Amino acid sequence: MKNEFNNKLKLRTMGTKSILRLKSSLQESILDMLNAQIKMEAHSTSAYLAMSAWCHEQGLIECGDYYKHQSDEEREHMLRIYDYIIDMGGKAISPEVSNIQHEFADLRALFELALEMEVAITDSFNKMSATCVKNADFQTLKFFDWFLEEQKEEEDNARRALEIYDLIGIELDGLFQIDHQVAKLGKKA
Ligand SMILES: [Fe+2]
Ligand SMILES: [Fe+2]
Repeated sequence: MKNEFNNKLKLRTMGTKSILRLKSSLQESILDMLNAQIKMEAHSTSAYLAMSAWCHEQGLIECGDYYKHQSDEEREHMLRIYDYIIDMGGKAISPEVSNIQHEFADLRALFELALEMEVAITDSFNKMSATCVKNADFQTLKFFDWFLEEQKEEEDNARRALEIYDLIGIELDGLFQIDHQVAKLGKKA
């Protein structure tokens, strides 16, 4: 009873910020890191949607649909992190996104950027995992498992798109065939 009273008194004399910290089991540096990743996923969402728009403009409708779907997936990734922060009692931040590339020299340049983005995201999750280990936040480390697994597939698909482009080439109806093949990515039987 006395302990409970002391705890209440302690809470009352603490600043609002400190009380909020008690609500969350996330360390401040981890929270900032997660919010930075929300921003990165939001950037991917917009970047893929811009790729989709460019593809549709070129008549590459299957690539256009493929990148629209990728955009949806990135939003899901963003919301997964958003939900995790909220579940842990932290404050999630809705990100502002800028620097989206809307024009591409050709389809290969677009495929290259998609791969670069995925490699950067994998790198980010690896670095964040290392930070979790350093800060003994094993819960967040566990949460990252799903993303690390997902990145394997994302990178594989992005690399395969480039391979398909180089294998088929753009002579004759090459671009038409490439467009067709990209639609099959991620749909392994
Ligand atoms: Fe993602
Ligand atoms: Fe991705």
